Amino acid sequence: MDASILNYTVNDNVGKFLKQTQKLYINGNWVDSKSGKTFDVEDPATGKKIATCAAGDKNDVDLAVSAARKAFDSGKWSSLPNNEKGKIIWKIGDLIDEHNEELAQLESLDNGKPVAVAGAADVPLSSDIFRYMAGWATKIEGNTIPYSCLYTPGAQYHSYTLREPVGVCGQIIPWNFPLLMAAWKIAPALAAGCTIVLKPAEQTPLSALRLMEIINDSNLLPEGVLNVVTGFGEEAGAPLAEHPHVDKVAFTGSTEVGKIITRAASGNLKKVSLELGGKSPTIIFPDADIDAAIAGAASAIFFNHGQCCCAGSRLLAHEKVFDKVTEGISKIAENIKVGPGMDASTEMGPLVSDEQYKKVAGYIESGKSEGGQVVAGGKYDNSSGGHFVHPTVFSKTNHDMTLVKEEIFGPVVCAQPFTDENLEKIAETANNTNFGLAASVWTKNISVAHKLAAKIRSGTVWVNCHNIFDASLPFGGYKESGWGREMGHEVLKNYTEVKAVTVNL
Ligand code: NAI
Ligand code: MG
Repeated sequence: MDASILNYTVNDNVGKFLKQTQKLYINGNWVDSKSGKTFDVEDPATGKKIATCAAGDKNDVDLAVSAARKAFDSGKWSSLPNNEKGKIIWKIGDLIDEHNEELAQLESLDNGKPVAVAGAADVPLSSDIFRYMAGWATKIEGNTIPYSCLYTPGAQYHSYTLREPVGVCGQIIPWNFPLLMAAWKIAPALAAGCTIVLKPAEQTPLSALRLMEIINDSNLLPEGVLNVVTGFGEEAGAPLAEHPHVDKVAFTGSTEVGKIITRAASGNLKKVSLELGGKSPTIIFPDADIDAAIAGAASAIFFNHGQCCCAGSRLLAHEKVFDKVTEGISKIAENIKVGPGMDASTEMGPLVSDEQYKKVAGYIESGKSEGGQVVAGGKYDNSSGGHFVHPTVFSKTNHDMTLVKEEIFGPVVCAQPFTDENLEKIAETANNTNFGLAASVWTKNISVAHKLAAKIRSGTVWVNCHNIFDASLPFGGYKESGWGREMGHEVLKNYTEVKAVTVNL
């Protein structure tokens, strides 16, 4: 059965969900915020309200942390047999897939992304990380360590390590992939035996709340193991980051707030992992399969409307192919159908908020005034109430321009030619940024690809592809792009402590 919201036809469950005033989920119960305050959630395609959510603050965070603390200290999750944990985590993955349609619709309504993309990427990638981490629940192991007994000759010791859950985790996530970011954070923390307080982004709280509802309806987790507190960054995020009873904070978002989080975390020296901004280069050599490189570089920047931390926002193409590449990307840009995410024919939706719209429009104007040449797009329009920015290609950019230096987080690519094929020089240009999240290299020369991959200072290097993710691949940043890695078994380091035990035999 279908329901409707604004002018959209939606899954019946979405209709029901959006009629409820959304509450906080603390200690296994849905509760109002202590202050009674709420905030509105809007549809970025129209600027119209689609939901009301509880606005949590310090008092609610205190309650959620104390529930997570109690759940952790009781051992009701961490000491559950690991195979049982694994089954529950796997089941969450299955439930996400069973609810694909409604989660995809909520993601599109809330974030603005095309509903088909949410259904084909965000939702299945979210279920996949739960399944991947379900497997890890039984495989988090220590080592036995041979011992030399330097100052106790003749003595015999048996030494081994235990890898234990880090404890209560505060997880603060952004709005660009709301469900996926929740999944990237929740799944490994559960696999490691931690308990959680999740703070979704105020722009896009809906899919995390619906996921919580789905998990709650299936009685999958003991109370207090997973808590969700919606609210604003300074009101709900900050008290979580500084809370003395939180053992670890995991954050994805702006580099600016990442720095604030590290300071907030210093009070009790809680562990910190950060996945922050980027200004990732897409480097195209003249010998590359140029058609593939054009399509790849276009998708590197335009996927998710450029609202990706690893967006290929700096296009570096060799001068021999520069014109062909920029023309090719411009042609793709001009043909992308921009519209509401819930419209099946839309290829690029609105930006998430008026704030992002103004920020990206500001970069487009600063690029023009600094001498950048707009070869595609450069247009933005909020006359309908939606935050629409057209895919934009700037040519003739250089490193001194603001739009080349700073993260734009919109569908705007800055193209620069390079003349020399000296890999040191290319790497120097690629690395000429405070960020170090990702890069892609497009060439048929495998020697060039591997040599350059080694010289680029970023957490991910793609060769002849971009934006390729898998639950098994670690993802994160060098430099100001962050601390620690998400996904793969690397992420488990964020959620575990190592204990050395030595026994005198
Ligand atoms: P933000 O970093 O302010 O927000 C991300 C999360 O942090 C949200 O849940 C927010 O409520 C929370 N937060 C904000 N201030 C906080 C504080 N003082 N203490 C604790 N939590 C806090 O990002 P925003 O303002 O939404 O976007 C600004 C820029 O950040 C974007 O234009 C983009 O450049 C970058 N960004 C990067 C992302 C990434 O994936 N690395 C994701 C989203 C934004
Ligand atoms: Mg902010």
